[in-house]
Amino acid sequence: MKNLAVFSSGFGSNLQAIVNSVKKSKVKANIALVISDNVDAYSLVRAKKAGIDFLYADPADFKDRTSYDKFIVRRLKKEKIDYVVLAGFMRIISDYFIRQYKHKIINIHPALLPSFKGTQAISDALDYGVKVTGVTVHFVTSTLDGGPVILQSALDIKDDDTLISLSERIHRLEHKLYPKALDLLVNGKLLVKGRKVFVKR
Ligand code: GRF
Repeated sequence: MKNLAVFSSGFGSNLQAIVNSVKKSKVKANIALVISDNVDAYSLVRAKKAGIDFLYADPADFKDRTSYDKFIVRRLKKEKIDYVVLAGFMRIISDYFIRQYKHKIINIHPALLPSFKGTQAISDALDYGVKVTGVTVHFVTSTLDGGPVILQSALDIKDDDTLISLSERIHRLEHKLYPKALDLLVNGKLLVKGRKVFVKR
């Protein structure tokens, strides 16, 4: 069984969705570790409640990004982590980290990439006035929000949508899509060729 480390800086609803999917054996993997850069992250409470080992590492304790990531990677190797799952982790991952886990780090983004990159994707899509937005799961590369796309799912923006109503629908979609992508990943079903990701049958 593959070992996962889930990274989350905040509320951790995606972490919860993954925990639930693992419990129901919809994703056959072991969540070995939850990592956060935010001591107040609710995701740490979720990890504790689920009986999952967790680590809080304060970026202020490290001289730069690479030394922070070297510390994290040492722990990942110690725990024999196979895949890194970013779920609302608000830090940029260094090239060092990416090289250590090539095509083994995935992220979820609340828009249809390459549209609306960055941290305000839901409100950016709403403000832009697009009629369709959605969710993207992708591999993490050194290009921010630019790695090969694994899965996407779309939804319509309604005329009376607010940031709250749209965010709710986006999150619901995320909670379905992320476990689906993880299931493919841990079963070795994803083949990356350049920018493209193929699902093996
Ligand atoms: C999600 O919208 C995800 O797409 C983005 O950060 C948010 C995290 O939400 N990367 P949560 O902490 O999982 O509730």
